[in-house]
Amino acid sequence: MSDRWYSKAVVYCLDIDAFADSDGDGCGDIRGLIGRLDYLSRLGVNCLWLNPIHPSPGKDDGYDVSDFYNVDPRFGTLGDFAELLHQAANRGIKVIIDLVVNHTSDQHPWFQSARSSPDSPYRDWFVWSETAPADRKQGMVFPGEQDETWSYDRTAKLWYYHRFYKFQPDLNIRNPAVREEIKKICAFWLQLGVSGFRMDAVPFIIEETEPGTPASPMDFGFLSELRQHVQWRRGDAVLLAEANVEPEKLVAFFGDEGGSSNRIHMLFDFMLNGRLMLALARQDTEPIIDALRDTPQLPAGGQWATFLRNHDEIDLSRLTAEQRKDVLAQFGPEEHMQLYGRGIRRRLAPMLGNDRRRLELAYALQFSLRGTPVLRYGEEIGMGENLDLDGRYAIRTPMQWSHLPNGGFSSADPKDLVRPVISGGEYGYEKVNATIQRHDPASLLSWFERMIRTLREAPEVGDGSCTHVDVPAPRGILVHRADADTGTMLFVHNLSTEAGVVDLSSLAGEAEFPNDVLADQEYPEPGKLDKIQVEGYGYRWIRMRRTA
Ligand code: NOJ
Repeated sequence: MSDRWYSKAVVYCLDIDAFADSDGDGCGDIRGLIGRLDYLSRLGVNCLWLNPIHPSPGKDDGYDVSDFYNVDPRFGTLGDFAELLHQAANRGIKVIIDLVVNHTSDQHPWFQSARSSPDSPYRDWFVWSETAPADRKQGMVFPGEQDETWSYDRTAKLWYYHRFYKFQPDLNIRNPAVREEIKKICAFWLQLGVSGFRMDAVPFIIEETEPGTPASPMDFGFLSELRQHVQWRRGDAVLLAEANVEPEKLVAFFGDEGGSSNRIHMLFDFMLNGRLMLALARQDTEPIIDALRDTPQLPAGGQWATFLRNHDEIDLSRLTAEQRKDVLAQFGPEEHMQLYGRGIRRRLAPMLGNDRRRLELAYALQFSLRGTPVLRYGEEIGMGENLDLDGRYAIRTPMQWSHLPNGGFSSADPKDLVRPVISGGEYGYEKVNATIQRHDPASLLSWFERMIRTLREAPEVGDGSCTHVDVPAPRGILVHRADADTGTMLFVHNLSTEAGVVDLSSLAGEAEFPNDVLADQEYPEPGKLDKIQVEGYGYRWIRMRRTA
């Protein structure tokens, strides 16, 4: 039995500033989050991923850090944070935080010192060039919002490298002092009690940037070093990385060629995310089957983190132009719904036309696929987006708790809120909120609670193998299974509107009494595998065998 907690986790991702405001200043804070831990506990999540918590000028929602050793004063104090860790632990909830060490804010004292003088001890902490690098118009992550990856600094009289926005100068990973500092930052937060890190922009952290060399070499050795350090300081700490790279490059992030998992424990499954969107858009299971087949074998202990929505745009850049066109046509047809020419800045409920059956289907599918599921706050109640807000802020609106003013998020004057609460219409807080749904056993929130509890009784999903069951089935119906020491789960999901039937009698010998543990409705004769019916947008999670 594996005791890797992360393989049985359900991760919930949230922005503290948009979650719950305890002191009425309009900005969510740590004490507000503490007050909502019972809600999260009841939902069944057991790991929180907090988007950046550090002091920051806030030009990239906290991903521009100006002090790695503190919490943003708008959120509270380090004391409040320690209390959060304690209260979360009391409820069996682990906390991981964003570790954003590819770059700092340009306001960080290290960068301010570095640019001020060639003699600064921090000069070599950043990446400089005396001349304008020829590749400075390449490798932009935010096309349209970013013009180049090297900018001229008038004080230093040098060009500095920034993979992301101009105000996010990259740290120089070649410098041993920088490497030591990153380890020290990790050790500090582990000492306080976090259970690990969501590591931002990992391929760029390990990039050994040379001016004029757009495809600079990557130092994977640093990931092994960091893993060793983190694990030594806290045995059960986890590194969950953002590395949206080509599939053949993924395994190196988990471990070296020896086959052991000695680097990152978990990676977000961006490849699957794009394919899931395509499959939902086309109502065709083929992209998921391809994804399951094409995924590289991971070293033991390596784990995927699955998601439908995160805090950014849905990145469709790994799809072909034709595939992307199909997804955009279905889920983001208007230009203002799209971002960076590659993505969609919407939440899932509006993308799926607020169709409750389809939403359940999509989330049942995500949570049953290999790995550890990650859920973005507000998705559990079917929140919408605010396309009047800039870029990715469209899906970072305050959590809708109740029908009270500001959706119960804050008692501040609405004009003082960190971002406006969605009000009025189909997705306004008056209609979509946690309190109404709490009182309704048929609500989406109640469904999420049931679904997550069911998943936690099915450790095969997180711990075991995930395989497509290749039986004749309509093109909208996916059959897959999860096997582990504890038993076998079988899953049938119908991505299309057409009801269908699949014959799974070939698996009959494996089950004494196959039974639905979660389904969109009561199906007749649940034990009859030769005629598994499933309604349009229906799903059935079937326990086949329990051995432990
Ligand atoms: C990836 C994060 O997900 C995104 O929100 C951020 O803007 C960039 N990294 C830069 O830190």
